[in-house]
Amino acid sequence: MAPKIVVLISGSGSNLQAIMDGISQGEIDGQIVAVISNRADAYGLQRAELAGISAHSLDHKQYPDRDSFDQALLKLIDRHQPDLLLLAGFMRILTADFVRHYQGRMMNIHPSLLPLYKGLNTHQRAIEAGDAEHGCTVHFVTEELDGGPLIIQARTPIHPGDDAGTLQQRVHQLEHRIYPVAVSWFCSHRLRLTDKSVWLDGELLPSCGFQLQD
Ligand code: GRF
Repeated sequence: MAPKIVVLISGSGSNLQAIMDGISQGEIDGQIVAVISNRADAYGLQRAELAGISAHSLDHKQYPDRDSFDQALLKLIDRHQPDLLLLAGFMRILTADFVRHYQGRMMNIHPSLLPLYKGLNTHQRAIEAGDAEHGCTVHFVTEELDGGPLIIQARTPIHPGDDAGTLQQRVHQLEHRIYPVAVSWFCSHRLRLTDKSVWLDGELLPSCGFQLQD
């Protein structure tokens, strides 16, 4: 049976859509068994429902602290027995216990060339720093925020006329290309995390991850 995937979102879910499309086009040998959002109004929940995927919202504001929310989230996720847990624009910091529970089977997509620009406002920060290029990264999730071992990156030049909006749009297009690739590798058992090393087809990936070329 194809590996089971649960996707966590907080917003539009365009990366979720890219993965759903990859599955329906036969590029990913996996099945999304649930989509969960901490915001009931996340458009990604509608995308899931339209595709006939089980969609849930779990409002973090209903819980007294981070720990109790994460415990409830973990319970809800594990009802679906996922092989892979994907963070796709999930705007919550996760507790160490939660992260450890899914170690080696949880990925995130981040809009920067990690280890540069962990956290928010990455596009603006790259422009202000005068960087020549920006991009996005898929990585395994560890306890360090945006700090886990890198799987795949894609780059785009920063043009003189770019602002945070134009740059974000180009990076978003790249995100939609690399996340399905990483998910397809994992689902086909080509990708593995051991300790802090990432292996693709039995070969150790460099610490910057696989570099997508145009
Ligand atoms: C993406 O930019 C992703 O890199 C970041 O959150 C955003 C989610 O966008 N983690 P979407 O909801 O997938 O459209």
